[in-house]
Amino acid sequence: MCGIIGFTGYLDVKNVLLEGLEALEYRGYDSAGIAFFEQDGIKTIKTTGKVTNLCDKVEGTSINSTCGIGHTRWAKHGGVSYTNSHPHTFGNVTLIHNGIIENYHELETALAHQGKYPVSQTDTEIAAMLIDSLYDGDAIETIKKAIKQLEGAYAFCILFADQPDVIYCLRNGSPLVACKSKEGSVIASDMVALIKYSKEYFVLPELHIAKLTKDNIVVSNLEGAIIKPQMLFVKWDMTAARKGGYAHFMLKEIHEQPSSLRSTIMPRIRNGSLPDLTADGIPNEIFHGINRVLITACGTAMHAGLVGRVLLEKLLRIPVTVEIASEFRYQDPIMDESTLVITISQSGETADTLAALRLSNEKHAKTLSIVNVKGSSIARESNYVLYTHAGPEIAVASTKAYTAQLSCIYLLALQFALAKNAITEPECASFVSQLQSVTTAVENTLSLEKAIDEISSHLKETEDLFFIGRGLDYALSCEGSIKLKEISYIHSEAYAAGELKHGTLSLITEGVPVIALATQTNVYSKMISNIREVRARGAMVILVTNGEIAVDSSIYDYHIALPELDDLFAPFTTAVVLQLLAYYTTIHRGYNVDQPRNLAKSVTVE
Ligand code: F6R
Repeated sequence: MCGIIGFTGYLDVKNVLLEGLEALEYRGYDSAGIAFFEQDGIKTIKTTGKVTNLCDKVEGTSINSTCGIGHTRWAKHGGVSYTNSHPHTFGNVTLIHNGIIENYHELETALAHQGKYPVSQTDTEIAAMLIDSLYDGDAIETIKKAIKQLEGAYAFCILFADQPDVIYCLRNGSPLVACKSKEGSVIASDMVALIKYSKEYFVLPELHIAKLTKDNIVVSNLEGAIIKPQMLFVKWDMTAARKGGYAHFMLKEIHEQPSSLRSTIMPRIRNGSLPDLTADGIPNEIFHGINRVLITACGTAMHAGLVGRVLLEKLLRIPVTVEIASEFRYQDPIMDESTLVITISQSGETADTLAALRLSNEKHAKTLSIVNVKGSSIARESNYVLYTHAGPEIAVASTKAYTAQLSCIYLLALQFALAKNAITEPECASFVSQLQSVTTAVENTLSLEKAIDEISSHLKETEDLFFIGRGLDYALSCEGSIKLKEISYIHSEAYAAGELKHGTLSLITEGVPVIALATQTNVYSKMISNIREVRARGAMVILVTNGEIAVDSSIYDYHIALPELDDLFAPFTTAVVLQLLAYYTTIHRGYNVDQPRNLAKSVTVE
C-alpha cells in the first residue's frame, strides 16, 4: 500500500527514485511522483497511472540532482488525480506520506483560521501545511512539534527547501527501512527497494526521526537522544526480487514453493526427526499453562489459521478459535495469560493484525507471530516469532507465503503437542517425516500445471463460481476462493459443502462451475453426496482428490488427482492447485495477475 523511496548521495537521483518506484510497484498504487533538489530549489514531477507514465514525463526533462524522494500512491483520502498524488509541497516543505492522518479535518480547520488552504483533497497535504506552519529553521524540533498534533498511522519523508540534500523521515505505524552504502543513504517503505544498495538495513523505530545526509543516517528519539538502530540482514538478493524468466511474479512464487518450504521446515528439524524451535527463541516452556489458542490474521494469512485450527485441535485437544483481525480488535475478546495468541502475517505490517496483537499484549496473552518480513512491526511486538523463510513475495496474491505459514503452523503444533505429551516422540517423528515429504509432493503437484491451465480455460467466461469442501478442504476452499476472485475478478464463494442445502443450492444452475475439494477421507462419502447434489442441478464440477481415487466419472467434468499424502498434509498440494487455477484463469481472462485492481500488497491502514 503506497510506496516510499528516498535517496541522498552520489548517484543520479532520477534513476534511483524511478528504479525504487518500479521495485515498489507490486504494493499497488494509482499515481506516482518524485521531488528532488536542484540548484534553484525543489522540483516535483508527478502523474496519475503507472510508473512508466512518470518515466515518460521525466525523460523529457533534464534533471541534475543527487537527492530526492519518490512515491507511489494508493488513493485513500481524495480520488486518483494529479493534484492528489504525492509529493505535496506547502511553503518550505515537500513531503511524501504513507498511512492516514486521522485528525486531518481538525488540523485543516485550524490551518484555515491561519488563512491556509489546501489545493488537494488529501490528508497528506494537510500534514505538509502543518509542518510548514511550525517550521522555524530547526527541522527536528519542528517534526517533534508536528508529531504532537498528528494522529493516525504514518510514514513521512520530508524535504525542507532551505536544507539541500537532506531528507528527514519519521514513522508511526507505517513501515520505513533504511540503509547506508558507499553510494549514499537510502530509505524506503520496504526492503525490495533497498536491496540493490545493501543487504544490511534497519527498521526506523516508531516515533523516531531519521536525518539522511549523503554520508550518514542519524536517528534520534523524541527526547533528542541519538540512538543506534538494530541492524538486520536479509539472505536474499536482487534476483529474488526479479521475475527470473517467469511471465509473472505470481507464477515464479508458485514455483518457488518447494524451495521456500524446504528453507522454512528443514532448519527446524532436530536429528532428522523432531521439531526444534529453540533456535527461534521458542522454548517448550511457553506452552506450559496454555489452555486455549486464538489465531488472528487477515485474508490469506487468516485462511492459514483455519488450517491451523483443525491441526492444533486434533493434536492438542484444546479449543482453538480463528478470528478475523479487523473484527477481533473491536470485540473486547476474552483472553489472559493462559491464552496463546498466534498472529500470522506475510508483511508483518498489516494494520488490523498489528492492532489485534497489541490488544492481546495488553490483555497479557502470550503472543507468537508467524511472519515473513524480518524486523517488521508484528515480529518486533510479539513475545515470540517464527519466521517463514519464503523470501520476498512480490505478487499481490499471496502464494509461497501461505504454504510457508502452513508449514510453520505444523511445526508449532507438533512442538506444542510434544511439549504437552499429547503425542509420543515416535508419533511426532512420523508427522515430521510426512511434513518433510510435502516439498516433493508440492514439486510433483507443479507438474500438473499444463492440465490445470487447460481446465482454467473453461472458466474464462465465468462470472460466478463456488468452492466447496469439508474440514480442511473447507479451509482450502476459502483460500481458493480469495485467490481466484482477487486476480481473475470472477465472483466466487467458499462453502462448507454441508451448508449448500441451507441456501446456496438455489444458485447452482446449468453450467455454474463448482470446484469440489475431496481430499479428506473421513468426510469423503459426504462430499461425494454433496457433489451429486450440485451435479444434479447442472453444475460444471472440477473435482480435486488426494491421490488417484476411482470416482464415478459422471459426477465431474474435470478431475485433478493430487500426489497422495496423508490427509492432514493435503492442504499443501491442494493450495498449489488452487493457486495455479487462479493464475491461469486470470491469464485466460487477460487481467494483470501481479497487480490486481484496487488491491495493495501490504495493508497498513484500517
Ligand atoms: C491474498 C492476500 C491477502 C493477505 C492479507 C494479509 O492473496 O495476499 O489477503 O493475506 O492482506 O496480509 P499479511 O499476510 O501481509 O498480513
